[in-house]
Amino acid sequence: MSKKVLVLSTSPRKGGNSDVLADEFVRGALEAGNAAEKISLYDKTIGFCKGCLTCQSTQRCIIHDDAQAIVEKMREADVIAFATPIYYYGMSGQMKTMLDRANPLFPSDYQFRDIYLLAAAAEEDEHTVDGAVTGLQGWIDCFERAHLAGTVFAGGVTAVGEIQGHPARNRAYEMGKHV
Ligand SMILES: Cc1cc2nc3c(=O)[nH]c(=O)nc-3n(C[C@H](O)[C@H](O)[C@H](O)COP(=O)(O)O)c2cc1C
Repeated sequence: MSKKVLVLSTSPRKGGNSDVLADEFVRGALEAGNAAEKISLYDKTIGFCKGCLTCQSTQRCIIHDDAQAIVEKMREADVIAFATPIYYYGMSGQMKTMLDRANPLFPSDYQFRDIYLLAAAAEEDEHTVDGAVTGLQGWIDCFERAHLAGTVFAGGVTAVGEIQGHPARNRAYEMGKHV
C-alpha cells in the first residue's frame, strides 16, 4: 500500500551529509511506489516554541512562520524521517526546534506511525548517534501510536560530500524502499 512519506532534512548545510541520506531515503520510498517528499529546514524561518501551550486547545501555533505548514504535513504523513547532523552528541538545534514546534500535534488525530532517524557525524563510533536517538525517542514516546522504526548512522564524515561512497547511503535508500 502506498504511504505518505515526509522527510525533514534539518542540517543547515544544503547538500550536506545527512541531506544526502535524506535524498537516498526519498529515492527508495519513491521507487517502492510511495508518495515521498523532502522538506529542508535550511531556508525556512522557524522560531522557537514560546511554551504558551495555546496549541493544546487550538491545535495551532500562535507563531506564524514556516513551521505551521510543515506541522500540517507532519500531521498527514504516515511515515516521518528526520535527517540530522550530530551536534554535540545530539540532534541539530534545528531539528529540536522543529520537534518543539510540532506540539500542536500532541492533542491531535495525527496519522504518523513509523518514525526514522538519519544521522551523520565526524566520529565513526556507532554510539555517536545515541544522544540523537534518545532525544527523538523522547518525542516519539509522547505519541503513543508512533514508534522508532529505524536509524541510519553515517559516521566518519565531516565536510560536505564526504558521504559519497559511504555504505550508509545505501542503507538509507533500502530503508526508504521498505517503509
Ligand atoms: C556545532 C557542531 C557540533 C558538532 N558536534 C559533533 C559531535 O558531537 N560529534 C561528531 O562526531 N561530529 C560533530 N560535528 C560534525 C558534524 O556532525 C559532521 O560534520 C556532519 O557530517 C555534519 O552533517 P551535515 O553535513 O548533514 O550537516 C559537529 C559539527 C558542528 C558544526
